[in-house]
Parts: sequence; C-alpha cells; structure tokens
Amino acid sequence: MGTILTIASGKGGCAKSSTVMILAANLAARGYKVAVVDADRNQSFASWHAQTYEGPELTCCSEVDHIKVVDLAGDLAEAHDVVLVDTAGFESLTAASAIGMADFVLIPCMADRGSVRETMRTAQQVASLSKAARRDIPYSVLLARWKPRGLSERAALDSLREEKMQIFDQWIGDLSDITKLSFSGLVPVSGKAGEQAGSLIDELCRKRAILIPSSRPDSRLEERAA
Ligand SMILES: Nc1ncnc2c1ncn2[C@@H]1O[C@H](COP(=O)(O)OP(=O)(O)O)[C@@H](O)[C@H]1O
Ligand SMILES: [Mg+2]
Repeated sequence: MGTILTIASGKGGCAKSSTVMILAANLAARGYKVAVVDADRNQSFASWHAQTYEGPELTCCSEVDHIKVVDLAGDLAEAHDVVLVDTAGFESLTAASAIGMADFVLIPCMADRGSVRETMRTAQQVASLSKAARRDIPYSVLLARWKPRGLSERAALDSLREEKMQIFDQWIGDLSDITKLSFSGLVPVSGKAGEQAGSLIDELCRKRAILIPSSRPDSRLEERAA
C-alpha cells in the first residue's frame, strides 16, 4: 500500500503543480511507482503529462469530483508506492477531500503576503479536517521559488514561524529549469533542481510520508536497518 501526498494551498500560482511535476519525475527516477491525480479543473498537470512530459513512466488520472477522487486515490495507492494529488488554487470541496484522505499534505508557499496568508488558512484547514476525522493529518510548508537571502523571503519566514507552522528544511529555489517546465517535458533529475527535489524526497522519507519503494529488491533490508 502506497502513501497519498496531497499538494494544497488556497493560493493559485504558488507552485502546487510545479511541485507535483518535479516530485513525480524525481520519485519515478528513483524507482518509485508513482501515480498523480489531477484534481484541478484547469488540468495543468494532466495536459502537461499528456502532451509534454518525457521522463520515466508515471500513471496520471484526472478527477475533480470530491467523492470520486477519494476512491480513485485509494485504488491507485493499492498499486503504486506514492500517489500525488494536485489540487485547485481556491477553497474547493475536492481539495478538502484530498486533504482529508492524505497521509501527508505539502503546502507550497512563495515569498508574498497572499501566499503566506493562504498557507496559514490551508494549515488551519488541515488541522480542522484532522479533528473532524479524529486522526492526525501531518503537513509541512514547502518554501517555493525561494531566494534564501531575499528580504520578502525573510519576512515571509518570520510570519510562518510566528504562527508555528511546520516547514520543510529543504526549499525549492527560483530556478529557470522549473519555469521552463510548462514548455519542456524534461524534468531535471540532476543539477540544482534535481538535488533539491532529491533532498526533499529524503526529508519526506524521514517523516515517513514516503516509504522505500516496494519494487527495490533490498527494500526490506533497508527497512530493517532503519
Ligand atoms: N521553483 C520555481 N522556480 C521558478 N519558477 C517557478 C517555481 N515554482 C513555480 N514556478 C512558476 O510559477 C508559476 C506558478 O506555478 P504553478 O506550479 O503552476 O502554481 P499552481 O499550481 O499553484 O497554480 C509557473 O509559471 C511556474 O513555472
Ligand atoms: Mg496548478
């Protein structure tokens, strides 16, 4: 049984789909069986996957219905190591379902006030859905398009820390390789973007949001050693 990772934020344009693109391709390159559910009406991931993507094999399905999306992600988790769910950039019932069924929620956040505000609202939504479901739904904020020494970045980070948000140690930089992705199907698995995606995957493994891929022959040994 694989894990379900939902990528969510009420803010449009805060790097949800880009995060799904780089994570999906980098996980697949590391031997994970990966499925993506595009739960956003704009279908930006699904159309990119169908028309542009050139990397290792991924399963991609579209489902924007808030009831059907739960069954679909559950079924995909039976046959894949990781299911990534890309959601819409506004408060939607489907995004709420995708958070409610998640093993882990990633909230991408860029260094602007709107993005920070929506990150906090989304984290509150995760907490409220955790309460409703009577189980812990862990989340972490992914600093995206991030310039570590930037002034807006410092202000955004101060605000997030003040609210005691969970934040990944690994951020994703402001990288032209990622901006180019909408026109290029070649997702970086090396260079800066590949390294950052790799460190993010390692951090997700440490948080047990992603497990060792079932197909890897030595996976049991690694699990035992851990
Ligand atoms: N790390 C990054 N570096 C450079 N550009 C980025 C990065 N992350 C996202 N972008 C750009 O920001 C824009 C919005 O990203 P997108 O992933 O489509 O957001 P969302 O899915 O949240 O609406 C896109 O043009 C994308 O190329
Ligand atoms: Mg999107």
